[in-house]
Amino acid sequence: MLRTEDRPAQHPQIVGQAIEVHRWVRQARAAGKTIGLVPTMGALHAGHLSLVAASCQQCDATIVTIFVNPTQFIGGEDFEAYPRNVPQDLKLLGQHEVDLVFIPTQDEMYPAGSSTLVLPPDVAQPLEGLCRPNHFHGVATIVLKLFHMIPADVAYFGQKDYQQTLVVRQMVADLRISMRIAVCPTVRESDGLALSSRNAYLNEHQREQALALSHSLQVASQLVQTGERESASIISKMRQVFADAGVAKIDYIALVDPDTLAEVRQVNAPTLATVAAHVGDARLIDNQLLEP
Ligand code: PAF
Repeated sequence: MLRTEDRPAQHPQIVGQAIEVHRWVRQARAAGKTIGLVPTMGALHAGHLSLVAASCQQCDATIVTIFVNPTQFIGGEDFEAYPRNVPQDLKLLGQHEVDLVFIPTQDEMYPAGSSTLVLPPDVAQPLEGLCRPNHFHGVATIVLKLFHMIPADVAYFGQKDYQQTLVVRQMVADLRISMRIAVCPTVRESDGLALSSRNAYLNEHQREQALALSHSLQVASQLVQTGERESASIISKMRQVFADAGVAKIDYIALVDPDTLAEVRQVNAPTLATVAAHVGDARLIDNQLLEP
């Protein structure tokens, strides 16, 4: 079997209009095909490609969307600077069996005068919701628009954006959308750094510092494995990892219930350790499930 990178590049069809992608989905469905959807903001890396690979493996047809969604960036964030490289993205997607790439313009997704925003479920409120007010309004809005335009069987998301997966799952359940949400594991560099399009902002020194996120999660996991149960004690040791790495701007270090994201005082059941911090110009997040 050919390795993905050795496969001759295919050329997925590219469309930019909602009506075109919708028509394509209707025809594929009429032909009895199951459809997988991978929503992205582009600047694709191996994490995105693992979602694409899962969809290609599990569905008859795969649609990838590339759209840097302005409404999920809050004031002062990196919307303008967010890495964009569509030719490179298409090259990478050409190495997989992607059938269609939807690359809409801003006007296509937010027609002039549009003002509707989705109010996300309660699980959007803590953690990212506190640090990035209205971020999940933007995420829920764009994801719902995409689900509406592309009524796929399965939509694929990465565990790195854990809270996003809960928001999307709850929205799908609340709005009775008949789509399965598949969550794929975080893809990491060999030293543990979680892949993120924002890693592109890091210089060599900052990339070293960024390891504090995954290292702190490893420390939490080891402490739980060796019997520590007190969240306060675990969090203080995680905080020390950031201090040692010289990362001062921490948005949160939290141990939470994996379903509700409510903080837990004791790790007596599966618990999500989740962190967010700024390293240079990059705001990075990571998480890991702790299993006592
Ligand atoms: O995870 C992302 O890249 C984005 O939040 C998403 C789901 C593509 C919506 O813009």
